[in-house]
Amino acid sequence: MPKIRIAEQTDLPKIVELIKRNKEPLNENLEAVFNFESPNEKCRFFVAEKDSKIVGFSRVHIYRWNKSAYVINLLVDANYRRRGIGSLLLRTAEEFARENGARVLMFDTAIDNIPALNLYFKNGFRICGYNEKLYDNAKTALYLAKEL
Ligand SMILES: CC(C)(COP(=O)(O)OP(=O)(O)OC[C@H]1O[C@@H](n2cnc3c(N)ncnc32)[C@H](O)[C@@H]1OP(=O)(O)O)[C@@H](O)C(=O)NCCC(=O)NCCS
Repeated sequence: MPKIRIAEQTDLPKIVELIKRNKEPLNENLEAVFNFESPNEKCRFFVAEKDSKIVGFSRVHIYRWNKSAYVINLLVDANYRRRGIGSLLLRTAEEFARENGARVLMFDTAIDNIPALNLYFKNGFRICGYNEKLYDNAKTALYLAKEL
């Protein structure tokens, strides 16, 4: 099983490569948010590493104003899926959220993203809302949440 650890700045090119390799959208400058921290918000990236290769990553934000945490990204390399790595990254996100005083962990995904929905349901998340305007591809977003 891969090791999950907090990402370092030097991991960023490999994270970008992982995103591109898996043809996931890369609409943001990740450097700008990497380890971002202010009195109001904190961002951390986590990587799943196997044999010195980054095979998955997640990005979690902590919001102080409402004591919440949000999984912004969660990606496992296509060649490494269905081996529990997504679940491991999600559990790490939960731990990080708890350690930072969050009362809830949230996430959004497209209504037709069955792998992601199953992963989150299996880990105790429930649908708490939807948004028809969130994405630029006209798909409806579902919001999921887990109380910590
Ligand atoms: C969603 C994703 C992170 C899951 O990662 P993973 O490492 O394969 O997840 P796990 O192996 O921990 O799977 C846990 C459970 O999720 C569900 N699941 C995962 N992939 C699934 C699939 N293709 N179809 C149906 N259910 C699936 C299953 O319930 C699975 O448990 P099981 O294998 O015992 O049946 C991965 O598919 C991925 O990176 N997808 C592309 C990016 C994405 O959509 N990210 C989330 C939204 S941003």
